[in-house]
Amino acid sequence: MDLYCVMGNPVEHSKSPWIHARFAELTGQLLRYDKRLIPLDGFVRAVRDFRAEGGRGCNVTVPFKFEAPQLATRLTPRAQLAQASNILAFDGNDILGDNTDGIGLVMDVQDNAGVALAGRDVLIVGAGGAAAGVLGPFIDAQPRRIVIANRTVDKAQAIVERHAAMAREHGVELHASQLEANGAFDVVINATAASMSGSGIPIAASVLKPRALACDLMYGPAAAGFVAWAQENGAVARDGLGMLVEQAAEAFLVWRGVRPPSAQVLAELRATLA
Ligand code: ATR
Repeated sequence: MDLYCVMGNPVEHSKSPWIHARFAELTGQLLRYDKRLIPLDGFVRAVRDFRAEGGRGCNVTVPFKFEAPQLATRLTPRAQLAQASNILAFDGNDILGDNTDGIGLVMDVQDNAGVALAGRDVLIVGAGGAAAGVLGPFIDAQPRRIVIANRTVDKAQAIVERHAAMAREHGVELHASQLEANGAFDVVINATAASMSGSGIPIAASVLKPRALACDLMYGPAAAGFVAWAQENGAVARDGLGMLVEQAAEAFLVWRGVRPPSAQVLAELRATLA
């Protein structure tokens, strides 16, 4: 049976084994998917050992997403742009590094939340790894304008510069900004880690157009504050569970060549967690 896993630290609460087991069931694919807790200094060794066991691919999560591209013999353009990989695929001596986080979020926004991004105004709050991982696929979806707002503006500026040529090619206005005074947007993505430090919502409610889609990249308790804030301010609130399932579906497609029924699995996962 083909072997896959998620590598992270912590990894105990990962939903990925459940999601991939369900994908395999629904598509009739034979595979096993485990979770592996990796010591902070043990990622390279863990990948080597997993390949020696016959592992075919892995999801990579906190804090190894930035280390993963260095192990790859080949990177997809979206992983190069993100400078991070959330999946690796192993085939003989070949290690493919890919990034399905951004396309996962775009699919969740467009297909599951039903918000077509073309022509819209999008605000991405945060300029860390999570924001960098999603920007390329957002540009691909050709909104009118994307603003990256961050507490440390220099970091937002650096991401914008890295994506400037792509934005020009796609006819998308792309700007960096501070957290204050950004105007109003159709779609607001919270890609900050602000909730992890217990601090409040990092932006003012004035960024939300009426009935805007406000989406946190986290789910569960970490997203609860942002979701409540969005609802209180007239937005359609969304947590990161849909992105989680969609990035997994895209990973499954890369590994197995089959796209699983992600909307069904998302509904089942929400019901399981409720
Ligand atoms: P991740 O990989 O989850 O993106 P990261 O790379 O550490 O994690 O980035 C965290 C992001 O959350 C950054 O944009 C950070 O802002 P700075 O670049 O100014 O540090 C943002 N962030 C963290 N805590 C925040 C807070 N209390 N208010 C606003 N932004 C915060």
